[in-house]
Amino acid sequence: MTHLNTDHLTPFGRVTSETIVRAAEQFGTPVYLYDEAVVVRKCQDALNMPNAYGLTVRYAMKANSNRALLQLINNQGLSLDCSTLNEVRRAHTAGIACDRMMLTSQEVPAGKDRQDLETMIREGLVYNICSLRQLKLIADFSVKHDQPMSIRINPGVGAGESVTRNTGDKYSSFGIHMANIEKALDVIHEKGFRINQVHVHIGSGGDPDMWRENIDRELMITEKYFPDAEIVNLGGGFKEARMPDETAADIQELGYYAKERFKDFYRRTGRKLHMSIEPGTYIVANAGYLVTSVVDEKWSGPTGFEFIILDAGMEANTRPLLYGSRHPFYVISNTGKLLSSEFDLSTMKYELDYRVVVGRCCESGDSQSLDYQGHIIPRTMANPEIGDYVVIGGTGAYCSAMSLYNYNSHVQAAELLLREDGKLKMIRKRQTLNQIIHNEQNL
Ligand code: LLP
Repeated sequence: MTHLNTDHLTPFGRVTSETIVRAAEQFGTPVYLYDEAVVVRKCQDALNMPNAYGLTVRYAMKANSNRALLQLINNQGLSLDCSTLNEVRRAHTAGIACDRMMLTSQEVPAGKDRQDLETMIREGLVYNICSLRQLKLIADFSVKHDQPMSIRINPGVGAGESVTRNTGDKYSSFGIHMANIEKALDVIHEKGFRINQVHVHIGSGGDPDMWRENIDRELMITEKYFPDAEIVNLGGGFKEARMPDETAADIQELGYYAKERFKDFYRRTGRKLHMSIEPGTYIVANAGYLVTSVVDEKWSGPTGFEFIILDAGMEANTRPLLYGSRHPFYVISNTGKLLSSEFDLSTMKYELDYRVVVGRCCESGDSQSLDYQGHIIPRTMANPEIGDYVVIGGTGAYCSAMSLYNYNSHVQAAELLLREDGKLKMIRKRQTLNQIIHNEQNL
C-alpha cells in the first residue's frame, strides 16, 4: 500500500495529509487551516491583473477578517474594502492605516460613529456613498474639508452565483440605483462637491461575461454622469473554482479587456482612469481547509444514506446550507494516509462509495453536501474510521467569517496558518464556553 503521508490535497496548495494530522494532533479539531503560499500567490495574481493606467486591489475583508490574514494581505500590497465601521476599526487595530481602506456600507453612522467616520475620512479612509441619504448627510463635510467622495451605483444589471449574491439588479438594495441618478446629481451639483470614484459591484461568483459587460456599463456611467471621476472601481466577485469541475473567472483575460476599454475611454475623453478591484473570495477561498474528525457513522436504511458524522458542520461552514455551495472533501486516516480526494478520485486505492457528510447540529440541514433547496446530495469518498479526518476544502472565504459558531453552544473553532516555511502558526485561539456566556445576565 502506498504511503501517502506527504500527498498534496490539491494541485495548487502546500497542504498535505501530513499537515492535516499535525494540525489536528497539535491543535485539536475542528480547526480552520489556511495556506500562506496560496494567499500570497493569489494576492500577486490580483496585483498583476492587466490594466491601462494603474491598479489598486482592495481585499474585501468580509471574506475573512482574521487579524493575521489582514496583515499578511496588507504586506503583499493590497488595500482593504471594508463593509462596516467595525471592519475599519478591526483592520485599524491590526495595524492597517485608514488611508489603505475604503468603506462601502449600508450603515448611516450617527453620534460617536459619525465622529469616528469623519476622523477616519480625514485620515484617508475612502468613503463610498451608497444611498441618497448617505449622500445628503456627507455633502457638507465633503465640501468643508475638500474631501472628494466615491459613489456606489446599482446599474440595474447584476450577476451572482445565486440570486442572493446578485447585487446589481432591482432585487438589490446596494448603492444608488440608476433610476435615482438624477436625484443624486442634483445634490452633488447643488452642494458642489467632487465625486472622484465610481464604484459598481454586481455580485459574487457570477458569470465572468457579466463582469466584463459591466466594465463597459460602468465606463459609460462614468463618462455620462461623473466628469470629475479619476478612479473606476469594478468591485469584486470573481468566480472561484472550489470543485475540480468548476471554472474560475480568468482575471488576466478580464484585465486585458478592461485595459482596452480604459484606453478607448482615454481616446474618447482624454481622461486616464485608474482601475480598482476588490476581490474577497478570489484571494482566500482556496487557501482554506476545515479540518474535522469523524465522530460517528449512521445508516438511514436501504433507501437511505450512509452518514459520516463530523465534529463540525453548518456552524463552521454555513455555505452548503445557505447557497447549496459545493466544497471538496478529503478523507485522511489518523496515520496520515490520503484515502480520497475529490481532486483526484481516480488514483485512490481505497474503497469509494456514496456518503453524506453531516455535523453535530440538531437539524437535518447540517450537512456539508446539499443542493440549493436543501436536499442531501451523497458524494463519492473513502470510508473513514472513527477518529480519521475529513477535510472540507475551499473554506478560506465566508466560512469562519459567516459561521454560526455558537449554535447548539458550539465554540468558535481555532484558526491556523501554514507558514511558507512549513510551520503551523495558530492565528486565532479556540473559543471557550465561558466566552460564549460571558455577556449573559441572570434572571
Ligand atoms: N465588494 C463588495 C462591495 C462586496 O459586497 C463584496 C462581497 C465584495 C467586494 C467581495 O466579493 P467576492 O470577491 O468575495 O465575491 N457570502 C457569499 C458572498 C457574499 C459576498 C458579499 N459581498 C459567499 O459565501 O459566496
